[in-house]
Amino acid sequence: MNYFPVFFDLNGQKVLIVGGGEVAIRKISLLERTGASITVVAPVIAPELMARAAAGQLKLATREFVPDDLDGARLVIVATSRRAVNRWIAKLSESRNVPVNVVDDREASRFIVPAIIDRDPVMIAISTGGASPVLARRLRARLEAMIPKRIGELASWLRALRASTRLKLRDTDERRRFFEAVVDGPAARRFIEGDSQGALRIAQQLLATSSTAPPAGGEVTLVGAGPGDPELLTLKALRALQDADVILHDRLVPAAILDLARRDAARICVGKAAGNIGSTQEEINALLIEHANQGRRVVRLKGGDPFIFGRGGEELQALAAAQINFSVVPGITAATGCAAYAGIPLTHRDHAHSVTFVTGHAQDHGKEPDPEPDWRALAAPGTTAVFYMGLARLDHIVAKLLEHGASPALPAGIIAQGTRPSQRVVTGTLSTIRGAAAAANLESPAVLIVGQVVALHPALAWFGDSAGVDLSRTA
Ligand SMILES: C[S@@+](CC[C@H](N)C(=O)[O-])C[C@H]1O[C@@H](n2cnc3c(N)ncnc32)[C@H](O)[C@@H]1O
Repeated sequence: MNYFPVFFDLNGQKVLIVGGGEVAIRKISLLERTGASITVVAPVIAPELMARAAAGQLKLATREFVPDDLDGARLVIVATSRRAVNRWIAKLSESRNVPVNVVDDREASRFIVPAIIDRDPVMIAISTGGASPVLARRLRARLEAMIPKRIGELASWLRALRASTRLKLRDTDERRRFFEAVVDGPAARRFIEGDSQGALRIAQQLLATSSTAPPAGGEVTLVGAGPGDPELLTLKALRALQDADVILHDRLVPAAILDLARRDAARICVGKAAGNIGSTQEEINALLIEHANQGRRVVRLKGGDPFIFGRGGEELQALAAAQINFSVVPGITAATGCAAYAGIPLTHRDHAHSVTFVTGHAQDHGKEPDPEPDWRALAAPGTTAVFYMGLARLDHIVAKLLEHGASPALPAGIIAQGTRPSQRVVTGTLSTIRGAAAAANLESPAVLIVGQVVALHPALAWFGDSAGVDLSRTA
């Protein structure tokens, strides 16, 4: 983060604008809304600013800037057409620790002005750190279209409601739940649609029942986080994350996904780091039950889909035995996510009519070894096999497939860190894939895909480095 976003209370504070043209007018129009005490210094001043000064909205000094103009200023905006002058004023401001913005000169600026959506008191600021103001404006346009027009009025109404409910709802958790029910439910919807009376009636009903209702029991939502790209989360997963009081997550879930949770939600990593044992399944089950029994909304966040090599079933069995309410939000599993991002269709009318997801793991935490898969079926023509956790057992998998009749020329591919910016794809055949993988020095997590469909990768790759690159000749 190269800029720290803050909202600055400028009410009654001196803001100095150096420059009296069009750019200054635009900045002043925004600043006026904050109640700042605006002083404009410039030898030539636009008539519009003169009119505002005459109406008492700002102070004018029709002359060149002098260093004493900075006295008492809390913020400076420099908007003259002379770059050297702008930079000199910026330097002077810096030496006095007054935050300065030089319009269109990021290097000389201590702060930059974001693109904003102003639905007072709701304010949304968008910045690309100066990288692309056009992109910031496009984002603003999209958000403008998504955010209800009355969102500001809704915020003001909620503020009033907060004051009037403070005496009745003394407990902070109870207060939060009440407001979540208002914001997420029909009360806010009615308000946004313009029915303020109906909204108030519903809020009063909620208030009347909130303290008499028994405390809500906790619940656990098993959520699939997908293979890595945060944009692959489902809307339900996003909502569950934002509603959660506690999140128990695997190590593979990226920070960008965890950042979508409420800031005050507790985050507990229960995954294992490479080579290290993390929380045992029994410990995870016990944590889920403990938090839910305390009335919390618990999200168990798992990479990919919770029901595919994710032990989601075992966790639900433990919750069912403890009579905890639960639900499941499916996620995009590594096989489908990686295949899509590598341009490898898992089925294809000309090449594969079935697909099998197989775990490449031999055993799990000292338990019984997983039974061997049906190698003959996996080696059969017209099918695709996707091996999870297969990188470490690549030699074994290749040997077994060859032993059970697969052709050494059968295409095979490995997708490491699939769907992430660091995604890498290595393709070859059963006879070349081990050499190709070793040469590429791939990092887990990775899936291995075996089948004719892998041969489509060079033509269909579209994402990341592998797009258009054919590594099939790597031995
Ligand atoms: C314990 S399994 C969990 C699978 C997960 N429940 C799912 O549906 O994708 C972990 C394995 O999933 C695969 N995997 C998960 N994320 C991946 C990714 N981004 N790229 C490649 N493989 C991934 C790897 O084979 C990894 O060893």
